[in-house]
Formats: sequence, C-alpha cells, structure tokens
Amino acid sequence: MAGCLDVIESHASVREYTGEPVEESHLNAIIEAARRAPTAWNLQPITVIAVTERGLLERLARDVGGQEHVARASVFLVFALDARKVWLAARSSGVEPARPGLGHLATWMLDAGIAAGWAALAAEELGYGVAFIAVYGNPCSVAETLHLPQGVLPVVGLAIGRPAERPGPRPRQPPEAFWGRNRYPNLPPRAMAEAVAGVYGGRAARLYRHVLAAGGYYERVSSVLERCLQRLDPGGDAGP
Ligand SMILES: Cc1cc2nc3c(=O)[nH]c(=O)nc-3n(C[C@H](O)[C@H](O)[C@H](O)COP(=O)(O)O)c2cc1C
Repeated sequence: MAGCLDVIESHASVREYTGEPVEESHLNAIIEAARRAPTAWNLQPITVIAVTERGLLERLARDVGGQEHVARASVFLVFALDARKVWLAARSSGVEPARPGLGHLATWMLDAGIAAGWAALAAEELGYGVAFIAVYGNPCSVAETLHLPQGVLPVVGLAIGRPAERPGPRPRQPPEAFWGRNRYPNLPPRAMAEAVAGVYGGRAARLYRHVLAAGGYYERVSSVLERCLQRLDPGGDAGP
C-alpha cells in the first residue's frame, strides 16, 4: 500500500470516472479519515453528506456552475459547516451561543478544508481519483438541493470515482517562492512575480483577470458568502 508521501507525490485532480461504484468499506474508510481530522478546539463543526443518487449528483453539478464531473462522480462528498449541531450541544449544556460571524466562517472553513484533504488522501490511497469542488461559490443552492437545515452551510465538495484518465502532475510554484526558513522567502519582487505567474505559462493573465480583477470570481464569492453567512445562524430553532 502506498504511503502518504507517495500518495501526495502522485496526486493530480481526476475529473473523468469509470462510473464504478465506490465500495461501501472504502466509502466508510474515506469518511472515517475526514471524521478523524483535527478541528480547532476539537469543536468538530463539520457534517459530511455523501451523495450517490444520480439525480442529486446532476442537480449538484448544476448548482456548482455546470461542472459535469460532479454528475459523473460515483460519490460526491459535501463538507458542511454545521452550527446547528454545535448550537444544539451548547444549548443542552446551558450555553447560548452568540451569532456566528466571520471568525466562525474563516476558522471552520479551515477545519472543513483539512477534513476534505484527509478524505482526499484516503480516497487516493485506495486507488480512487478525486477533485475538490468549490461549493462556497453557491452554497445556498447546494444547501437547498440537499435540504440542509438552517445553521448548516456547505462549503467544499470532493468528487470521487475510479479514474478514467491519468493526468500528469500540474505545476506548482518553485520552493524558493513557496517557503522560507525563519523568514519570508528572499526573492526580489520581479523574480517572485515570475516564479508565481510562471506556473501558468501563457495563461497567467487570463486566469488572474478571471479570478482577481474587479467583478471577477473572488468578488462574486465574497458577496455570496456575505449573503449566505446568515444560513450558518441556527437562530432560535436549534434547541434541545
Ligand atoms: C478549495 C478548492 C476548490 C476547488 N474547486 C474546484 C472546482 O470547483 N472544480 C474543479 O474541477 N476543481 C476544483 N479544484 C481543483 C483545483 O483546480 C486543482 O487542485 C488545481 O488546479 C491543481 O491541480 P491538481 O489538483 O491536479 O494538482 C479545487 C481545489 C481546491 C483546493
């Protein structure tokens, strides 16, 4: 069996799948890896929905912007920030939580990312192909499709299936742009820009325009998340 470093070394997102179902014992092992993942304060504010129904997969593929590989996946794991169950637990312990805000969103997103990452590594070790999916671009629609209760905000997904393609590794920033020992990397601005943009070759300008420019992807995600933050508030309903 491949070790963790081998799995990481051979990672490449896979978006074509054979359609073979994910074995139940494998699905359990993948979800177990996510359940074992660390969370801040060990608060565990994450709930995972494992979607296998074809009709639901198709609707979710539409919700995340027409990403057909979600519809083709054998399983789509949806990682949701779950204030509902944490509020239920807090209230049953006699504590009334304050409204969730940016701090909850930011730190719980990290928890969800780590959990999804561990699930991805487990799935890849078991021979599956995976692709992370940005649910945070349209979390309210995904929540509606999955009939998630108030207080539960889906943020990231993991499409899983037996690979029907073997993509090579995608480029990464060179180490000298990525890390520094005891201090910030010692690259002059021009060299830093070249090292970072160089990853995308001739596509850098198009990518940066699409995601970073005014009206681009991240501005849209910011306004979506501001609007959907109220979905993370369980309100008064989540009582024991
Ligand atoms: C948080 C996150 C969100 C992502 N969202 C999507 C997505 O919505 N659709 C998709 O096809 N890939 C998505 N990806 C996959 C990235 O595009 C991919 O990891 C990146 O291009 C590097 O390629 P590699 O995974 O093959 O190394 C996402 C990855 C991460 C970590």
